[in-house]
Amino acid sequence: MTSARLIALSFGVSTAMTLFAYAASEGPLAHRADLSEADRARIAGVTASTGDFTKAEPFEVNQGGATTVERFDRDAFSQFSANLPFEGRSDFAVGNGVFRKLWTPAPSSTTASDGLGPLFNSRGCQNCHLKDGRGQPPRDGAAGAESFVLGLSVPAPEGEPEFPQTVSELVVPEPTYGSQLQDLAAAGHAAEGRVVVTYGERAVQLSGGETASLRVPRYEIAELGYGPLHPDTMISPRVAPQMIGLGLLEFVHEGDILALADPDDEDGDGISGRPNWNVDVSTGEPALGRFGSKAIQPTVRQQAAFAFVTDMGLGNPDVPEPHGDCTEAQTSCIDAPVGQDYDGHEVPEELLALVTFYSRHLAVPARRDVEDPEVLRGKELFYQTGCVGCHHPKYVTRDDDEVPVALRRQLIWPYTDMLLHDMGDGLADRRPQGAASGREWRTPPLWGIGLTQAVSGHTLFLHDGRARSLLEAVLWHGGEAEATRDSVAAMTPDNRAALIRFLESL
Ligand code: HEC
Ligand code: HEC
Repeated sequence: MTSARLIALSFGVSTAMTLFAYAASEGPLAHRADLSEADRARIAGVTASTGDFTKAEPFEVNQGGATTVERFDRDAFSQFSANLPFEGRSDFAVGNGVFRKLWTPAPSSTTASDGLGPLFNSRGCQNCHLKDGRGQPPRDGAAGAESFVLGLSVPAPEGEPEFPQTVSELVVPEPTYGSQLQDLAAAGHAAEGRVVVTYGERAVQLSGGETASLRVPRYEIAELGYGPLHPDTMISPRVAPQMIGLGLLEFVHEGDILALADPDDEDGDGISGRPNWNVDVSTGEPALGRFGSKAIQPTVRQQAAFAFVTDMGLGNPDVPEPHGDCTEAQTSCIDAPVGQDYDGHEVPEELLALVTFYSRHLAVPARRDVEDPEVLRGKELFYQTGCVGCHHPKYVTRDDDEVPVALRRQLIWPYTDMLLHDMGDGLADRRPQGAASGREWRTPPLWGIGLTQAVSGHTLFLHDGRARSLLEAVLWHGGEAEATRDSVAAMTPDNRAALIRFLESL
């Protein structure tokens, strides 16, 4: 991870060419135009990596900065930012209503909630992001795969415009089924199919005579509703992630993230890290991808806009596609009536803005047991083993007028670099997305991960929920993280337990 060097990224969006340059000029955090020089030096100190593991760092317990809440039960992820100004609280509550809203197909008597589908995965955001926590893969025998989706692509035909910074094969949506398999449909339409997951077990030897078993998923699509899939179809399974701290991640300064990128591994530590550039559809400008398992969406708003279209078939001002993910080949879907609200979209601007406000302001719960000696030892191992090479501990968010007031200038501890990493064959989905290859994933934030059981009633981790525990999640790490994974397998059982205790305290 090089920090002080020129990162020049050439970026082509259709015909336009834009050049970004982050000049590593003098002094720490020179790219932070939002801070005064004195603040830059101070913040560089505060966010520097610690070497003292005898006690917790100042403010470490409040991992979401001043947004942090003291709530550790089933509702731990559903709280508004503790510092949200009074005026924002009603927007949060109304936004929560939009997040929980169950949509119905058009036409219906309740025009304000119609337009669902015709093809969809779920009737509302909250159905997938249950309790604002993470989802899980479909279980045996269960109908519908709510909280889990399957992305679909095929290799792009010759002449398809190149995606910026693409390192791998170019892809386009599957010609008949589109970019995602919708397993539900409005009355009178066929659902696209049903995902069936089966698992094999793979034993792993650990030091000290311990063993673990990893379950290896296999995905099949049953009951295809629109004929065979393209023979070269690539699939990517995804479970819905937790919703906390997303506004804080959106306002981590772009330069802080790019400073961690080291695409050619010039420092030779085996860890590279690449940004996934995309376009902000609301401005048409290039923007750094941050959200989704491959960091494809640059903003919370854009993630929500695409969720409305792809997961629920609801057109909105940013993605005005009332038919959602239906293709020309799905004629009954294309011909179906669309819902309309007063501004001509199934989801009007006001609702998109409110659900964005809500999603940005879900608070991060406080750490537990930060001073516990075993947790501190686990933290030291987390640093020494090299986990921090990707799970970057801390940032101070931007301090400018574009940032909502509660999210400004917060010292946060998300444990992510927001960059793409090659995670090896075991985790590869072999389906590129934007500039991300079929082996790359974005480092997910780890804050709140220790509360997964309390909020979601399970401990299923990774992009497709295959890992049944935190240890299994770590043992799946390969590629750039192979060395850290091997260190964990080789640790004494006591140290391994301490590392897991640390993760559980997040
Ligand atoms: C069918 C289930 C489903 C529905 C409905 C759904 N989501 Fe999601 N959501 C997901 C999945 C799966 C992902 C991960 C996508 C990926 O990895 O690219 C996700 C990712 C996100 C993210 C990015 C989080 C992160 O850490 O990167 C946000 C924000 C989000 N959803 C908000 C919403 C909002 C707002 C709605 C309603 C408008 C919604 N979602 C509806 C399944 C769903
Ligand atoms: C090379 C970068 C890299 C390194 C080094 C790394 N990780 Fe990760 N980590 C990732 C990525 C990327 C994922 C997501 C993989 C996926 O979902 O398939 C991940 C996922 C995880 C998860 C599951 C998160 C979730 O929300 O499901 C845990 C827990 C985790 N890492 C802990 C660790 C620990 C502990 C170490 C050190 C032993 C470590 N990681 C080292 C990149 C890294």
